Amino acid sequence: MNLPPPASKPLIYLDHGATTPLDPQAAEAMLPYLRGGCGNPSSLHRPGREARLALENARSCLAGLLNARESEIYFVSGGTEADNLAIQGAAFKNRHKGQHIITTAVEHPAVLNTCKYLEKQGFEVAYLAVDEYGQVNPETVRSAIRRDTILLSVMHGNNEVGTLNPLAEIGKIAREAGVYFHSDAVQSFGKIPLDVQALPVDLLSISGHKIYGPGGIGALYIRRGVALEKLLHGGRQEGDKRAGTENLPGVIGLAKAAELICRSREEQSRRVGELRDYFQEQLLRQFPGIRVNGHPQERLYNNLNVSFPGCDSETLLLSLDMQGIAASSGSACSAGSIEPSRVLKAMGLPAAISRSAIRFTLGKDNTREEIDYVLESLREIVPRLQNIIQKV
Ligand SMILES: Cc1ncc(COP(=O)(O)O)c(C=O)c1O
Repeated sequence: MNLPPPASKPLIYLDHGATTPLDPQAAEAMLPYLRGGCGNPSSLHRPGREARLALENARSCLAGLLNARESEIYFVSGGTEADNLAIQGAAFKNRHKGQHIITTAVEHPAVLNTCKYLEKQGFEVAYLAVDEYGQVNPETVRSAIRRDTILLSVMHGNNEVGTLNPLAEIGKIAREAGVYFHSDAVQSFGKIPLDVQALPVDLLSISGHKIYGPGGIGALYIRRGVALEKLLHGGRQEGDKRAGTENLPGVIGLAKAAELICRSREEQSRRVGELRDYFQEQLLRQFPGIRVNGHPQERLYNNLNVSFPGCDSETLLLSLDMQGIAASSGSACSAGSIEPSRVLKAMGLPAAISRSAIRFTLGKDNTREEIDYVLESLREIVPRLQNIIQKV
């Protein structure tokens, strides 16, 4: 097979919201399982039993980090499958109780498009509005709940602007109403402490490649007693909730990466948060008229979404790319789209402002020198692009 070499690593990577580099320690932990020599966790022989032990150790590790029971952690192929299993699973299983689902206008496509699919299957979905920061008001949730509401899905940290939702308050409302509560924590897990004993959440999605783990692996927390319809039919793996031989190297890498990021959470949040704040301060000082999108405080510590009025975000991104700087406009999944960001639109931003938005998502290895280089590059690029637009 003739594969093209992977694209050369950008000089400065500020797109950790899209994906993160695999942590060398997670890679190291995966190696023995990638090299083979281990069995299928469902086999009875010794290699099979060893594989089972490794799988269950990884489950126990993840359960410990979320303060969940081991039996409440289910391995899936990533955040997208976790969201699908949670939402479709809860919807189809509880259809006899009602057909009304509530979500928000700013969810990731993994949630939004699953809800759109369910609408085609006869469910009714309410897409809640958010405030100017992209945050959901718990009272909006309360007033949207009906007698036939069966499921509420509200993300924790927004992938575009980083805004955090008040999960505890929202979950309390759902619980009082007897409605299942799912939260997509793909962007927040490892950055914000999550304790499922303290949080009234029934279903929680996480993904490996956002936390310096491998791609193609994720997990869904399913609170004990919550019944879901299966998405995949086949063997009886994962407590008969998710058929298919487990991705053992992926599971091991996910658990190791999760352990590492949770263990260094406070240190990373302080260090990366300070760097993000420095970047933001310098941008605001050096580029009058720019706008920082997202909640000023209740925001993922590594997110900086900025609109540069008078610039077109795609052109700005390409100019940054030519300087060896990787950032994104909106979410990675909408890259290439010329539509203004759905999230920024829901926050009430005029199209011209959202069309000039760039998302920088910092990571644990970024440095002050890198940020200074990005600032220097922007000082050259931004006025040039603004001039072009003015002339057109
Ligand atoms: C908030 C959110 N949910 C879900 C996903 C999908 O996760 P995965 O890429 O693991 O399928 C992403 C990825 O961008 C995300 O940011």
